[in-house]
Amino acid sequence: MKKILTVIGARPQFIKAAAVSRAIRKSGGLHEVIVHTGQHFDNNMSSVFFQEMDIPEPDYHLEINSLSHGAMTGRMIERTEEVLLTEKPELVLVYGDTNSTLAGALAAKKLHIQVAHVEAGLRSFNMEMPEEINRILTDRISNILFCPTEIAVNNLQREGFDSFPCRIMQVGDVMYDAALFYGAMSSQRSGILNRLSLGEYNYVLCTIHRQENTDNLENLKSIVSALNEISSEIPVVLPLHPRTNKILTRNNIRLAFQPIDPVGYFDIVELLKNCSLVITDSGGMQKEAYFFRKYCITLREETEWIELVNHHFNLLAGSDPVLIKKGYQSYGGKLISDLIPLYGQGDAGDRIVDILLKSLS
Ligand code: UD1
Ligand code: UDP
Repeated sequence: MKKILTVIGARPQFIKAAAVSRAIRKSGGLHEVIVHTGQHFDNNMSSVFFQEMDIPEPDYHLEINSLSHGAMTGRMIERTEEVLLTEKPELVLVYGDTNSTLAGALAAKKLHIQVAHVEAGLRSFNMEMPEEINRILTDRISNILFCPTEIAVNNLQREGFDSFPCRIMQVGDVMYDAALFYGAMSSQRSGILNRLSLGEYNYVLCTIHRQENTDNLENLKSIVSALNEISSEIPVVLPLHPRTNKILTRNNIRLAFQPIDPVGYFDIVELLKNCSLVITDSGGMQKEAYFFRKYCITLREETEWIELVNHHFNLLAGSDPVLIKKGYQSYGGKLISDLIPLYGQGDAGDRIVDILLKSLS
């Protein structure tokens, strides 16, 4: 059986890897070794996903976190290289755009091990974002680029990838697979609505963690002021990312409502299914809002998921409190009536595994 090695480390990667790992086990044709870089490490940012989503226990825990970009990425490359030299996989699978993604891809490529990138081809066209740097570099050294959308394929073609020694495959979005599969059982597995005394469509769901919002205090204060005002009209449910929590506390920026700790996948899906509106700077939550028919106010100036903006399901508000509140007034409580298959059919994991099996045989 061919051996592949998966490098993951941050919350969104656990969700994406859960979908693909299920497809790998279903196929029975690949042996997957999992490396957890340790980038996210709190129980509610990491182990909860492995338990709830039945992701196999990682074979290696590198425990690298809470460092500057260079130190974190550098140490991850060094430790992943050691694992690769021991395991000698045929291919390394990486997801998304975090420092763990780039580290896994670079360590493998320098050892002449094939790299497959899930969620390839996305662009925000904002080179200030660490994620944009990570995804462009990862794409450039990947042998197989698994694109979620047509726009992602077009981005790669525009950058000349057709002439590079790689394969570009549009397979759909593995987060849609996860939303469908785990979403079917979330009501049984989550008691969050009762726990927080929430009812259908009577709260706004919000997340904030993006570096350009948390590390720019002006942006963060503007966003908080908008949320504070909205919370005087409707409850705001804010599962607070540890990065944001630290910065709000350190700078004494006050929320007029009580945030909650980060929650597991079943809880976030229940919150998404039942909310009135999503306000977020998360990449994943923008799509999940759509999967669960909710409009999304995005706390960024641009997005990689531009098809949602083009279809008017997503409003880019940046950190402008006026736009955020206008967005709430226009879209709060409304449901997206018809879902267009922007992100495939929910079988992206199976398609990825089929392609891996064929290309490694
Ligand atoms: C990272 C990714 C980002 C992704 C996000 C998902 C990079 C460059 N950024 O950002 O693309 O959207 O994950 O959530 O890779 N922390 C904890 N406990 C944890 C995890 C983090 O306290 O379990 C703290 C760290 O100590 C650090 C801060 O949060 O102080 C930021 O963590 P880090 O992994 O560097 O970046 P994220 O903001 O999580
Ligand atoms: N998420 C979760 N619990 C939370 C907040 C988010 O399970 O408290 C999930 C949610 O499904 C989201 C995913 O984590 O899509 C991705 O995480 P995040 O927003 O941190 O990262 P991004 O998608 O922006 O990289």
